Amino acid sequence: MSTQRTPTPPVLELRDIRKSFGTNAVLKGVDLALRPGRITALLGANGAGKSTLIKALSGVHEPTSGEVLLDGDVVQLESPIAASRLGVRTVHQRIDDVIVPGLSVAENLVFEQIALGEAPSVARLGALLPHARRVAAALSLDWSDAFLRKDVFELGIADCQMLLLARALVTKPKVLILDEPTSTLSQSEAEQLFEMILKLRDDGVAILHVSHRLAEIDHLADDIVVLRDGRITATQERPFDFAAAVTSMLGEGAAHDIERLEHLTGDRVALQITGHRIFPESPALSLELRGGEVTGVIGLVGAGKTEFAEHVFGESRGPDAGAMTLHGTPYAPRHPKDAIARGVFLVPEDRAAQGMLPKWSIARTFSLPFLSRFAHGPLLRPVAETTRAAQAIADYGVVATGPGQSVDALSGGNQQKVMVARWMQTPPDVLLLDEPFRGVDIGARREIARRAREQASAGSCVVMLCSDVDELREIADRVLVLVEGRITLDARIDTVTDAEIVQSMTEVA
Ligand SMILES: Nc1ncnc2c1ncn2[C@@H]1O[C@H](COP(=O)(O)OP(=O)(O)OP(=O)(O)O)[C@@H](O)[C@H]1O
Ligand SMILES: [Mg+2]
Repeated sequence: MSTQRTPTPPVLELRDIRKSFGTNAVLKGVDLALRPGRITALLGANGAGKSTLIKALSGVHEPTSGEVLLDGDVVQLESPIAASRLGVRTVHQRIDDVIVPGLSVAENLVFEQIALGEAPSVARLGALLPHARRVAAALSLDWSDAFLRKDVFELGIADCQMLLLARALVTKPKVLILDEPTSTLSQSEAEQLFEMILKLRDDGVAILHVSHRLAEIDHLADDIVVLRDGRITATQERPFDFAAAVTSMLGEGAAHDIERLEHLTGDRVALQITGHRIFPESPALSLELRGGEVTGVIGLVGAGKTEFAEHVFGESRGPDAGAMTLHGTPYAPRHPKDAIARGVFLVPEDRAAQGMLPKWSIARTFSLPFLSRFAHGPLLRPVAETTRAAQAIADYGVVATGPGQSVDALSGGNQQKVMVARWMQTPPDVLLLDEPFRGVDIGARREIARRAREQASAGSCVVMLCSDVDELREIADRVLVLVEGRITLDARIDTVTDAEIVQSMTEVA
């Protein structure tokens, strides 16, 4: 056998791809080759052009210039259907663009086959179910009929994400493109996904995988490609040099390690919660959340983190609110505006769906929740609004043309930065951050962590909800582990090991 390794010819090749939106040049000449049986990780800061590149590859956007070759032939990917017929399948970053509400999971799963007349029509869900069941089983997805019948409207984001993935795999792709598929998944769902990806790779599929998580890239990728400001600035094979990759992604000076935390210890109770039930069948919780420190609440999907945050924020009452006091005064929010009036803010998990109005400028989006504060006075102070938004754009490194740009036209991660920044602009009494690092690049992640800690050291009670131990360590002083609405661990972060935290996350009652 020869030990010489001739590289397999690429299945998909991009040559000098350029894409502009009006005068905004986003892709400035990208060359990229994807080979069968290899996973290429695409790295880049928020706004670098990753999703735009993917859209050009999947028939969503027509490139301004450049060539796409499939198996050596120039092809026109003029529509998503054309691309997928050629075997180029994509799972996009924004799931709400592609999920069809009002249809069941089953219908969404085989939507394209229905459209092409290859599966029973939408009108006959009964006839469709066995087909959908076979498709799900072939992908090793343990989906019940009840789940397949559900309206996708009722699904959480993680389930939507899995559904779209499954949809991309209904027929075996030649090229699979995944735009931040894990940013909405829990650890165990992500692991399920990794297994699927690795199996597809071993089957010879060429995979392009976008992620901001280096550990995940290290686990999956055969090659790394870095996109910076619309150009490829680095390519690597194993062994990877992540420090170099981050430098070519963000520039010199950005690649320093995260500083070790100076741990804070809050001495003043901000929120006192007594007899609060997260789920009807879960025990009544009593706990104190202190100002002057960051409390990290960690748990798997379904642990009750988001519910807990929503109860504290007045978004829903929950089965049994118990009694809460804020700085010693009774606190019983019936609506988020009650919470906001008391200085209790929530940066929600599903930011795109909650509180981002299409066509609104960054500046307006930024002041939206605070408008009621000025309800009786002059309604808006546009100058102050613009100044604050411009400041946030600079601080968080939001890639935007300016405070007047509409939030729709921002990249996914930049939208998230705007949403996080908006709740950090006035010092809160209690700041609840639900998965704040989701989808943001490493630079913004550090900035968010730094800000959150800054606010805690100025006295705010900061509560971060997450499902990742590394993220928790980056920001928290105290850890609370939640399992099905119960607290299984409550400790200072520097007194517990990762193993202990993970252990308590899976503790059964
Ligand atoms: N439809 C559009 N109209 C105008 N500008 C757009 C449009 N889509 C993207 N852009 C701009 O293109 C740039 C790149 O966005 P893109 O979504 O490709 O970034 P990204 O690398 O995927 O970032 P993220 O990590 O945040 O997902 C951004 O500055 C964005 O404002
Ligand atoms: Mg993107």
